[in-house]
Amino acid sequence: MINFGRGVPSADLIDVAGLAQAAGAASTANADASFGYGSPAGYQPLREWIAARHGVDAGSVLVTPGAMQAVALAVDLLVGGEDDTAGEVLVDRPTYDMVLRALAARPVTVRQLALGREWVEPVAAPGAAAVRRCVYAVPTFRNPDGATMALPERELLLERAALEGSAVIEDDPYQELRFDGPALPPLWRLGGLEQVVHVSSFSKTVCPGLRVGYVIADETRIEGLIAAANRTYITPSMFAQAVVHRYLLDGGLDAPLQRMRTELAARAELLCELLSEQLPQARFERPQGGYFVWLRLPSTLTASTLAAAAQRHGVVVAPGSGFLVDGGGEHCVRLCFAAEPPNRIAEGVRRLAAAAREADTREADTRESGAPGGSQQAAGRPQLGEEAVLADPA
Ligand SMILES: Cc1ncc(COP(=O)(O)O)c(C=O)c1O
Repeated sequence: MINFGRGVPSADLIDVAGLAQAAGAASTANADASFGYGSPAGYQPLREWIAARHGVDAGSVLVTPGAMQAVALAVDLLVGGEDDTAGEVLVDRPTYDMVLRALAARPVTVRQLALGREWVEPVAAPGAAAVRRCVYAVPTFRNPDGATMALPERELLLERAALEGSAVIEDDPYQELRFDGPALPPLWRLGGLEQVVHVSSFSKTVCPGLRVGYVIADETRIEGLIAAANRTYITPSMFAQAVVHRYLLDGGLDAPLQRMRTELAARAELLCELLSEQLPQARFERPQGGYFVWLRLPSTLTASTLAAAAQRHGVVVAPGSGFLVDGGGEHCVRLCFAAEPPNRIAEGVRRLAAAAREADTREADTRESGAPGGSQQAAGRPQLGEEAVLADPA
């Protein structure tokens, strides 16, 4: 299978030799700390390393088993999660599907909107206490569509959230993966740690398998998160965090980051060139960083039909509807260009284009036969390779 479906770095993007060396060193130097339970706050030397890199105190850092776990802890802390009076979470549109799934399993109301451009007032039952609310956003090279919130949008989002006293969870694992050009300030730099809980990860920059992410937040919130972490998983893996720490001490993060950026930029470019040539009726924005291209299909082709056809051709893609809570995304797919090396990207697009031709023909047949769900306007229908009406993005 050629995997455009998962947001992971391919094996050849991982510095296996460097990590093996770091694992060896973490087993011998400081073995007591690496092999014990340690602290729920994380492996202290890594905590300090992260604090120094971001210019904050170590008391403002919690090192977690991945960013996903960090987001879950932050949501529970900010809006509750253990009773049925928990509040609301505003999320960006579209947004990371795993977080939508985690929210769906909690007693919170999820409202999805184009954060930075749209806002909605809290919905409180008459006479009820104010709704506890937080905002979740991936402002930079967003999963799934690669979009980056512009500076005025960041400012507006923070201003609206501040007016009603809502904390903002900034999930930012792709921030350092900009291909070129100046970086935008992350939300936590603009709004400060009283307002923003910043979450990041080493999954996209070093490797996902060690499961190391972190939170930077106000010290009071970090204390609350440490207590919640302790109740949830006792402590994170000290060994995994010691390996990451040793790896960073030995080589720093800048060299691996640069290598990752160069590779990702080349893959993104290749994917976009091939998509333009081979799926000319699909539309997309060229990514400026991160892992993803968001492909908008013609209105004659649904993502679910394409995904099924792609599967038959040995390619996995992620249908857009998984990233939206109230419908939409039926004509969008997320493609990850990090998970496959260039030769497999080329083969993957070739197969995807064949799958799209096949799927579009099948959908046309369904429409012509008047089967339920089929459009009655099959005559003169746009086909891949001809002019087609593009569906609404999300
Ligand atoms: C926006 C976002 N947050 C969190 C994660 C998960 O990160 P981790 O592997 O550190 O749990 C991902 C991975 O795809 C992601 O895209």
